[in-house]
Amino acid sequence: MKHFIQLNQFLKPYKWYILAGFLFIVLSKIFAIFPARFISQAFDEVKQALETAHLSNSSAIYKEITNYALMIVGAALVNGFFLFLTRQTIIVASRKIEYDIKNTIYEQYQQLSRSFYKKHNTGDLMSRIGEDVSKVRMYFGPAIMYSMNLTVLFILVIATMLSISIELTLYTLLPLPFLALLIYYVSKTIHQKSEQVQIKLAGLSTNTQESFSGIRVIKSFDTSSYMKSKFTDQNQAYYSASLSLAKTNALFHPFMILLIGLSTILTIYIGGRLCAEGKVSTGNIAEFVIYVNMLTWPVASLGWVTSLTQRALASYKRIDYFLKINPEIVNQKNAQQYNFGDIKLNNVSLKYQDTGIEALKKINLTISKGSTIGIVGKTGSGKSSLASLISRMYDCTEGTIEIDQKNISSINLFQLRDHIAMVNQDVFLFSQTIAQNIVFGLKRSYTNQEIVWAAQQACVDENIKQLKDQYQTLLGERGVNLSGGQKQRISIARALIKDADILILDDCLSAVDTETEHQITQNIKTLTKEKTCIIIAQRVSTVRHADCIITLDEGRIVQQGTHEQLIKTKGFYQDLYHKQQI
Ligand SMILES: Nc1ncnc2c1ncn2[C@@H]1O[C@H](COP(=O)(O)OP(=O)(O)OP(=O)(O)O)[C@@H](O)[C@H]1O
Ligand SMILES: [Mg+2]
Repeated sequence: MKHFIQLNQFLKPYKWYILAGFLFIVLSKIFAIFPARFISQAFDEVKQALETAHLSNSSAIYKEITNYALMIVGAALVNGFFLFLTRQTIIVASRKIEYDIKNTIYEQYQQLSRSFYKKHNTGDLMSRIGEDVSKVRMYFGPAIMYSMNLTVLFILVIATMLSISIELTLYTLLPLPFLALLIYYVSKTIHQKSEQVQIKLAGLSTNTQESFSGIRVIKSFDTSSYMKSKFTDQNQAYYSASLSLAKTNALFHPFMILLIGLSTILTIYIGGRLCAEGKVSTGNIAEFVIYVNMLTWPVASLGWVTSLTQRALASYKRIDYFLKINPEIVNQKNAQQYNFGDIKLNNVSLKYQDTGIEALKKINLTISKGSTIGIVGKTGSGKSSLASLISRMYDCTEGTIEIDQKNISSINLFQLRDHIAMVNQDVFLFSQTIAQNIVFGLKRSYTNQEIVWAAQQACVDENIKQLKDQYQTLLGERGVNLSGGQKQRISIARALIKDADILILDDCLSAVDTETEHQITQNIKTLTKEKTCIIIAQRVSTVRHADCIITLDEGRIVQQGTHEQLIKTKGFYQDLYHKQQI
């Protein structure tokens, strides 16, 4: 009930749409009932005329019937017009609500921290904003519309029926509750079975997609027959689930027709007897048959609406769960002026909550503006974790990080990230053009020359110029595939054009040859004279020019000094240097 009330909160901004929709439903139903009444009257008049058959007045009867026919068509047209308005208000409102909810969810997704994304897989996140929102929309649109429809129709039709004959009304309505119950159960079964079909389909799609994206591994390990048999199994499961759904669906309609038929027979049988007793007219029987048919679909929809509402509630609970999650990184709203670039880490530790891994232990480090710091260390020693702390992707579990002597958590998050240009270890380029990738996230205006300049600084301009569409080359699934080193350099260009106060390069020269690497580090050195630069690397050659180099081991700083100092001291750096010299 709590969720149901919360769900209906979304209606508030659109209450006038819903109220107008209700009014249109009432009007359209009034005009839906008229034809039945006209038919009844026409029947009775024809019968009377036949009983007192005078050929002379047959043309008068034809005229009378034509009048009725015109009135029926007229009423149907008016009914149709109001039906159109009903859909224009209620269904339109539901689409607007869908739009609102999608925006709310997307905003929330953007605020949640990286640890949230580790806990939930992409498919799950996609289905919240896709499928679950659609199910909620089905409640605001069809479910609300059909329940209003049913209520209004019931009141109007049953009142009319009762005014004609109470006895006939009761008999006629007898099968309807069974119909509603049947439909409720059948649509529940259909829903369960379609969920199964969905699950099987999702499995099949994931597998298929993986076999496309992993085609290089599959081919080189010659596992195509294994993949094929896996696909066949999943395809079989999907096939069986679909078949079972089709069987239930096939039973659904015949059952409905059977129940409608039963109601009609009852109406004619009981109506015929009452007619013989003179309690109702033949016209009334015809009228009742029409009413039965009018009521059947709404009653059938009752079961459907109930299951739609249940599904919407289940989906809403899932959406609500996501919306209620508080972003772990709390943002300080006000932006102020800081001297970005002076960074100080005091006794900083980081423990990843989900894995319990302590990636950084009691780190003390001062990086002053304008200096370049190199970070080396074995794999898993905490280098990337240190970089994530500075851009506040995570909050440290112990100690403090200060920027311009202010605690990082008191600085506006967006402002902080605006002043940091980061090149991540796992390069990600969007399925857009190269130029769009380079200026991605750039908040100021820029010229094409600047894009080329950034690419030149990252030593990737030559490569781009060799492509047919140059900077307009589309990347990604439907575009060109670049080499690992080219991707790295484009992401470096993306960071350089940002011209931020702090530049963080996380192992982003690993796929670049030493000569190009030398060129890029030289360029960066010139560009970042006034800025703070943090370079994480596996190679001594990348960091040797840094003002200070630290060596991390199992989350601790074990060495600190300049290149000249460190190569003279026994330890990781010296080993690394000698090995790489050889
Ligand atoms: N998001 C995360 N959630 C949980 N544990 C993590 C996460 N990222 C890293 N770790 C763990 O923290 C430790 C340090 O990882 P980190 O990525 O900082 O190492 P690294 O020095 O950058 O290694 P590499 O040189 O391979 O990039 C590792 O043991 C890793 O398993
Ligand atoms: Mg790393």
